[in-house]
Amino acid sequence: MTPINLGTYLEKFFSEREIRLSELYPGLSINRLKDELKQYARQRKVNVDDLFSLRYIPSNTNPITYFFDSLIKGYPLEYIRGRAHFYKSEFDVSETVLIPRSETEILVETAASFLRDWMKMSDERLKVLDIGTGSGAIIISLLQEMPRPLEAYATDISKDALEVTRRNYFNLRYTIPRESSLRLVHTDRMSDLSEENFHLIVSNPPYIKKREDRDFVHNQVDTYEPHLALYLEDDEYDEWFRTLFKQVLHSLYEEGIFIMEGHEDHLEELANVCSMIGFSSVKVLKDYTNRNRFIFAKK
Ligand SMILES: C[S@@+](CC[C@H](N)C(=O)[O-])C[C@H]1O[C@@H](n2cnc3c(N)ncnc32)[C@H](O)[C@@H]1O
Repeated sequence: MTPINLGTYLEKFFSEREIRLSELYPGLSINRLKDELKQYARQRKVNVDDLFSLRYIPSNTNPITYFFDSLIKGYPLEYIRGRAHFYKSEFDVSETVLIPRSETEILVETAASFLRDWMKMSDERLKVLDIGTGSGAIIISLLQEMPRPLEAYATDISKDALEVTRRNYFNLRYTIPRESSLRLVHTDRMSDLSEENFHLIVSNPPYIKKREDRDFVHNQVDTYEPHLALYLEDDEYDEWFRTLFKQVLHSLYEEGIFIMEGHEDHLEELANVCSMIGFSSVKVLKDYTNRNRFIFAKK
């Protein structure tokens, strides 16, 4: 093979696979790909100043070859880079956590607006819980948004996910008010926190039914993202949420608020369950595409 520089290789790689790449990575352009490769190389301590004029020879030991091979397989760009943008920060991600989604930012904005209003009315230190925290994107963004310290808790059933949360909290600690705290708890939903009370509980739990909904899940998501973060068994689904809602209701202070992301096809039904078990006001909120996406419930 005649040696060529990386820029030429990348352009050829892109033009030969443009249709396939745009199916796998909607909106991917040559410029975005260059940018992704630059960021990827920078993280691997490669000098990126003249990256695209360097001679490139594919080899199994070359990290740049890993980048191209991963793209051919449809591996998510966020996992290739090990980083995902959410709300106002970059978060570390690995295959043990869900890649945080932009619609979840609505949950953060809604929760942040309540916390700010409460902070205006009272000096009390507010306690907040995130159930199924994954990368920690929700709870860390909330901690960043608040003008005053929060006492925050986050749970996950995956120990590996909590390691990623811990890393993100450590990396972004400097963006969070110093007196804030975050306690990470390895538990099922919020089982080990029944003695605690919270002003606000948020959650983006697994909410896809494994049989009924799986055909509608993008192949790339199903192949690479953790099934623990995505799916629940169909026959356990209703009971899983009923238990969650009861735990949440028990642990909220009076007038406390619960905001949960969920599946557009199942949210109305789950909202009814919330009302039946005793939340005083329950609403379904929509996402950017006008689909049912969140339950908002007040104790
Ligand atoms: C949809 S992901 C959400 C991750 C993150 N909160 C976000 O919004 O990007 C669901 C998370 O819940 C966790 N999870 C699944 N089952 C759980 C359970 N029974 N108790 C606690 N966490 C659970 C998964 O490990 C995963 O991290």
